[in-house]
Amino acid sequence: MREFVSHKAAQFTESVIREMSRVAAKHKAVNLAQGFPDFPAPPEIKEAACRAIMNNHNQYAITWGTKNLRDAIVAKTKRDYGVTFDPETNLTVCCGATEGMIASLMATVNPGEEVIVFEPFYENYGPDAILCGATPRFVSLHPPDFSFCHEELAAAFNEKTRAIVINSPNNPTGRVFSRQDLELIAQLCQKYDVLAITDEIYEHILYDGAEYVPLWTLPGMAERTIAVNSVSKTFSVTGWRIGFILASAALTASIRKVHDFLTVGAAAPLQEACAEAFAFPESYYKELGDFYRQRRDYMLKALEDVGFRCVRPGGAYYIMAEIAPFGWDDDVAFAFHLASEIGVAVVPGSSFYRAGHPDSHKYVRFCFCKEMATLEAAVANLQKLKRK
Ligand SMILES: Cc1ncc(COP(=O)(O)O)c(C=O)c1O
Repeated sequence: MREFVSHKAAQFTESVIREMSRVAAKHKAVNLAQGFPDFPAPPEIKEAACRAIMNNHNQYAITWGTKNLRDAIVAKTKRDYGVTFDPETNLTVCCGATEGMIASLMATVNPGEEVIVFEPFYENYGPDAILCGATPRFVSLHPPDFSFCHEELAAAFNEKTRAIVINSPNNPTGRVFSRQDLELIAQLCQKYDVLAITDEIYEHILYDGAEYVPLWTLPGMAERTIAVNSVSKTFSVTGWRIGFILASAALTASIRKVHDFLTVGAAAPLQEACAEAFAFPESYYKELGDFYRQRRDYMLKALEDVGFRCVRPGGAYYIMAEIAPFGWDDDVAFAFHLASEIGVAVVPGSSFYRAGHPDSHKYVRFCFCKEMATLEAAVANLQKLKRK
């Protein structure tokens, strides 16, 4: 029998992040690998979901999202940024930011074109580009602060460039792009007639007074930005698989077609519950930020105390930690050692880089969207590294 693996599927591997969760379970290690909360979602949103099911919201919703949810997202976006999107023509509810990204790329990118991706990157972006038949073109985020060199970014744009993917606050580095960074990206997008696709999933997880500037609020960018977002991180419901995409009417029409044939729609009762969550007061977002700031500060101090050299995140809920202080130069071997011998699962940094990148084996990524007790258990286990 032939091997029925498509040329596209053969070009990428299984997700290492998801694999590390399985490794954690096997070794009963504290799981600081995959970015999902181990604490309950807000009770209001859980009750709203139960109510929606009991009130018979159990059939296919409108493919681009229930009216209540679209209206709630539009109201919240207006409240936060003063911009009014049309719920009828500018918004598509989808199955998580994961579907939002692939649907947006498939709706706008052609085989043979290039998509610029910052490296290290959230591991889905490379396969997403490949599934569209496009070529990812990588631009490095440089340690120690994971900023990018403006000349290197400018050099990556060419006549084949169709889109640039931006994720700020960034997974895995915690980097929050400055207004100046975004202005350069906006300028290049307009010069080369390129689309920006922004992954805004950590929009509300910011530290040290960092400001969140949506790219689509910059002059000339509203028509050429596709904003992909999700409730996964904002409302601690990564298993619900509800995301949304804001874009111009022309882009939205194309995205909605792809979305419809990919998934038909996201879970109807959960959409109704999310509509209620988007009406949470501003204090909810402040508490979310404070909650994660406490954990970031605790983990940064604890990891540095054990001996890691860490990159201080300005947003999101991950810490990239250098492994060299422990005498290791192989991040995968170190991550397996941490899981099996030390009792803490992390993600090897190389899963956020292409093979061969000079920084690809220098880091492991710790995730801190966990109960304090979980983080304390991890830190207690990590003390074993001190004695080695
Ligand atoms: C940058 C980034 N984008 C997208 C996702 C996945 O989002 P969703 O759960 O909405 O599919 C994650 C999850 O960790 C992420 O870190």
